[in-house]
Amino acid sequence: MSHPVVDAIAGEAREAVAAAATAAELEQVRIKYLGRQGALTQLLRSLGTLPAAERPEVGAAANVAKRELEALLDERLGSAQETERARTRAAARPDLTLPGRRPPVGVVHPLRRVEEEIIEVFAGLGFSVVDGPEIESDYNNFEALNFPPDHPARDMQDTFFVPGELLLRTHTSPVQIRTMKAQRPPVRVIVPGRVYRRDIADASHSPVFHQVEGLAVDRDISMGDLKGTLDLFARELFGARSRTRFRPSFFPFTEPSAEVDVLCFLCGGDGCRVCKQSGWLEILGSGMVHPNVLKNVGYDPEEVTGWAFGMGIERIAMLKYGVDDLRLFFDNDLRFLRQFA
Ligand code: DAH
Repeated sequence: MSHPVVDAIAGEAREAVAAAATAAELEQVRIKYLGRQGALTQLLRSLGTLPAAERPEVGAAANVAKRELEALLDERLGSAQETERARTRAAARPDLTLPGRRPPVGVVHPLRRVEEEIIEVFAGLGFSVVDGPEIESDYNNFEALNFPPDHPARDMQDTFFVPGELLLRTHTSPVQIRTMKAQRPPVRVIVPGRVYRRDIADASHSPVFHQVEGLAVDRDISMGDLKGTLDLFARELFGARSRTRFRPSFFPFTEPSAEVDVLCFLCGGDGCRVCKQSGWLEILGSGMVHPNVLKNVGYDPEEVTGWAFGMGIERIAMLKYGVDDLRLFFDNDLRFLRQFA
């Protein structure tokens, strides 16, 4: 059953189907031939205008052509959609040939790093690491450490008081009291920790900072042991050329007391920007444990002696890494911290 007019339209439609590459293009072909204004639709609709003799032939041929085109379109649409789905799936699949994205790896914070270095030196000398609470009693923080009741460090300006006769410890020294109360001599401890003072943050002050405390108590412990230990510490931390210098000082909990300087590691003592032309860097306070402190923890000062020291971790980190503003350690700007990788 064929008719030249129908055959021409059907042939053209088949070519259009063959040329269509996508579902969208096939839909365009469907509209063009089978849509309401489509060529085959129009032909079927205009049968009435044909001479009566031609109508059955053209009508039958057009209906056949219409069904064939519908079947062809369905079949091609199915495979076009399958191709498109496959392409979408392929696009969604990870490209295994792409170089991997490296997850950012953190670094040890410079303050923690310096703390670890300090601990390592003393751990090597047989000191054990202990810690204590940041909220302390006035007794442990001041009184047992031989601070007189009117000592300026107890002033509201320096100490954060906590309701209930408590305070935020202003130094790590109260852990000396806790340790000695809890054990008999010999004592060799190193105490890292956070301390608090009522200071406004600036380049060299912070209301919270870190200290490391050291304490050694035994029979016949002398100032010479303290000097030898701190000399070794300075060489370990600042290099083999380093030396220490003891200057007389005062702390309520030590007698005698000394402030300890290390030879400037940058200029070797000649004088430079880091040591402010002095050749020396002050790094800690120390001294022989005051007999009153030993008595306060139940030790007999006639039987045992001891020494102690305390240093600020921020200060040592600033010196070691040439950092001129303490706040950089607390800002946690990754551009700063990454430099310690
Ligand atoms: N606690 C003192 C401070 O915060 C530092 C210190 C000095 C600790 C002398 C000591 C010491 O153990 O013997 O400034």
